[in-house]
Amino acid sequence: MRYTGLIENYRDRLPVDDSTHLISLGEGNTPLIRLENIPATLGKDVDIYVKYEGLNPTGSFKDRGMTMAVTKAVESGSKAIICASTGNTSASAAAYAARAGIKAFVLIPEGKIALGKLAQAMIHGAIIIQIKGNFDDGMRLVKEVADHAPVSIVNSINPYRLQGQKTAAFEIIEELGDAPDYHCLPVGNAGNISAHWMGYKEYFDDGKATNKPKMVGYQAAGAAPFIKGEMIDEPETIATAIRIGHPQSWDLAHTVEKESNGWFDALTDKEILAAQKLLTEKEGIFCEPASATSLAGAMRDIKSGKIPEGSKIVCTLTGHGLKDPDTAIAQCKDAMININPVMDEVRDAILDNM
Ligand code: F0G
Repeated sequence: MRYTGLIENYRDRLPVDDSTHLISLGEGNTPLIRLENIPATLGKDVDIYVKYEGLNPTGSFKDRGMTMAVTKAVESGSKAIICASTGNTSASAAAYAARAGIKAFVLIPEGKIALGKLAQAMIHGAIIIQIKGNFDDGMRLVKEVADHAPVSIVNSINPYRLQGQKTAAFEIIEELGDAPDYHCLPVGNAGNISAHWMGYKEYFDDGKATNKPKMVGYQAAGAAPFIKGEMIDEPETIATAIRIGHPQSWDLAHTVEKESNGWFDALTDKEILAAQKLLTEKEGIFCEPASATSLAGAMRDIKSGKIPEGSKIVCTLTGHGLKDPDTAIAQCKDAMININPVMDEVRDAILDNM
């Protein structure tokens, strides 16, 4: 049967009924790829899977939540949606608004959006409002303006977003036959880690899984309020997607940490970029910097033994590498060979590099 998106697929577990008109781009059903080469480099016997959310229609996990949020916004008669974003939410909101024939307003931090995401928001026709401030300023403004203008907020404070995003946990349990031992995610607002935990609990409670994973949230060291134990006013990291100092799901995520016996930790930008590169070079999988935070953290905790041998680990790769071409290219300065258009020079280039 033709796959037509996660709402249709999990209709019974989502807040829709037969009369709901679904706004979908075929999101969800993303590959769960078993890493074949990286575990050996760690010298540990572990099973690592990556959930490649970059293969959603707009290239990030946001589409899971956006299909629900926009479907419900349209159902309630809304003619416009609004969000603050570090990039991916704006790309997703722009695309689903286009699909639904409504307007999208997106507030983005000036100069801090990866190029691919900006291109998406622009080409889908969103109204882009650049602010001289960061994501947290944008979020504050969106909440304020929603009381003064006819717009529906589609940030993850919209509960329908988390409903859609919980389906990633369902897919993982269905593919593995049970829940993994550990689930590692990059954390910004902490909506996604909270949504996954909802999904795992729901399947466990319904007898579709015999266990629940420990949820592990990794942040960028310069934007790590969960590790600091308090909000941060000037977050900074090369992983712009998670450049957030005032997480919206602060309480929810702390509950997840406690209930799942998980933890939070932070990675330097250097560790994050190294994991991104390792994944591209050893496994052929290209994710954006923020996404690699999950793998960077998992690798560190596997090496230290905090995640024990014999574990089954899932790392969510939240967004596609093409979202941020500038950061990728900046990591590969020596990768090109320039030649004249003659066979000898091509041959030499090959033989010199075998
Ligand atoms: N990874 C990527 C690629 C993201 O874009 C985000 C969030 C996260 C991880 C963190 O997820 O906020 O649920 O903890 N991006 C939002 C945006 C903030 O505006 O696109 P979270």
